[in-house]
Amino acid sequence: MEVVIRPDSLEASLIAAGIVARLIRENPRPVLGLATGRSPLQVYAELVRMRREEGLDFSRVTTFNLDEYVGLPPGHPGSFRAFMNRNLFDHVNIPPANIHVPDGSAPDIPAFCRAYEESIRAAGGVDIQILGIGTDGHIGFNEPSSSLGSRTRIKTLTEETRRDNSDAFGGPDRVPPHCITMGIGTIMESRACLLLAFGKKKARAVASACEGPITAMVPASVLQLHPRAIIIVDGDAASELEKADYYKWVYAHKPDWQRT
Ligand code: GLP
Repeated sequence: MEVVIRPDSLEASLIAAGIVARLIRENPRPVLGLATGRSPLQVYAELVRMRREEGLDFSRVTTFNLDEYVGLPPGHPGSFRAFMNRNLFDHVNIPPANIHVPDGSAPDIPAFCRAYEESIRAAGGVDIQILGIGTDGHIGFNEPSSSLGSRTRIKTLTEETRRDNSDAFGGPDRVPPHCITMGIGTIMESRACLLLAFGKKKARAVASACEGPITAMVPASVLQLHPRAIIIVDGDAASELEKADYYKWVYAHKPDWQRT
């Protein structure tokens, strides 16, 4: 695991956007795994700026989103599809056929989930998976107790997650109880994971994920087994990390050839 601690979320997000932009420039068929939530917003804003001001070309990019609520009418503003359109897809030139967001209104959800896994494989797998982290340590919508080998499937959200995500719905009771999410096994197959976490509210989950035991009770802790997991946090989210000073020192003294 590489833990990168920056003073604020903007500086942290610019590092993450730089890693993604490099993949887009250097890989002939880049495949991105995308997350929703507040954490990746500044990364998407920077990628949109790079498209507008620097002509960053997304025409060869394929994307797979982590998750979606089940049962929302198409176009519902709280859906992750709508979130992605607003914050990224409407502003960059990813061919629409290359964009994949789980379909929460699929009539046969297990069949849809199998097909989603197959499309990821057919695209050659995910190069960089962007992740946030729930206050309960979830990644995607893999809540505590999710199998660490799980694949894309339907899940039931915890009360804590429905509360955390209630802004877009006007109250926790209006947040759909079910979702489709890539599994933890699916996420672990991506070639790199880039987890973003900002603010004091995430400090406990970040410390458990990076320095606690690997356990299904903190799904993000499985990233300790990933060969290339980069955890990018601000000072507040890093505030409960025991080895924070060491991570800062490592980052400040990285050899030039060893790019993040
Ligand atoms: C939701 C998403 C996760 C995201 C989490 C944290 O539960 N399914 O992918 O990481 O929220 O959200 P935020 O970044 O808004 O704190």
